[in-house]
Amino acid sequence: MTVSSWESVEVPAGWTLLVHPELESTNSEVLRRAGQLDHGTVVVAERQTAGRGRRGAPWLARPGEGLTFSVWLRPEAARALWPRLSLAAGLAVAEAMQAFGIEAQIKWPNDLLVDGRKLCGILVEAGAHGVVVGIGINVNGSDFPPELDGQATSMRLAGGRDFEPGEVLGLVLRSLHRLAGRIGADFPELIDRIRERCALRGHRVRLESGSGPLCGVVEGIGDRGELVVVADDGRHEILQAHEVRVVD
Ligand code: BTN
Repeated sequence: MTVSSWESVEVPAGWTLLVHPELESTNSEVLRRAGQLDHGTVVVAERQTAGRGRRGAPWLARPGEGLTFSVWLRPEAARALWPRLSLAAGLAVAEAMQAFGIEAQIKWPNDLLVDGRKLCGILVEAGAHGVVVGIGINVNGSDFPPELDGQATSMRLAGGRDFEPGEVLGLVLRSLHRLAGRIGADFPELIDRIRERCALRGHRVRLESGSGPLCGVVEGIGDRGELVVVADDGRHEILQAHEVRVVD
């Protein structure tokens, strides 16, 4: 297990770091305390007892092997644009990974993959006056619980060495700090960078959307962050992240 030195984490100017040995879930903690938190409060848990993924799935990470944290933001952009933070955060983590020599792809809307296996999950949840961006990164694990067998990877597996979680956190936060304010008029430029890393482009997918199941081939990501799928009947479907679940 790598010992973290959180004191040396370089947090972006104006942001604050709070580290807890154990929490149920950093997202839940931030949402519970949201009224007292400033923009840019980062909550890290060395261990989560009830880490949460999208749609009620658990987020499993062994202490010392995963980096689990949430950032409380009060975006200037309109609330309707806050879901774009999933993609912006994915790009932020992917660009930080690149600085560590790891090429990660973005699986729309909220996962990062290396060689088809999940390295990082992102859970964005809106509160009354802001939004929490929760990020889980597999850092130094080399095996995973049986339920994740064959589906997960880590920075250690991808990069061939151990990584210092505090250093990873610092780099991801600085990257997120640069990108989180760009979900408004600047978003098309982010989308170009996200498209370069789109794991689903050209792939056949099965989706669950509000209007039922859908099979087709992903054409790409639209200018507003939507997934564009050419369905088997030839129709172009434009899907928003909150409306749809990529099944496989
Ligand atoms: C997913 O893959 O479905 C999203 C996983 C998000 C996990 C992170 S870990 C830190 C933060 N706290 C949580 O309870 N969940 C997010």
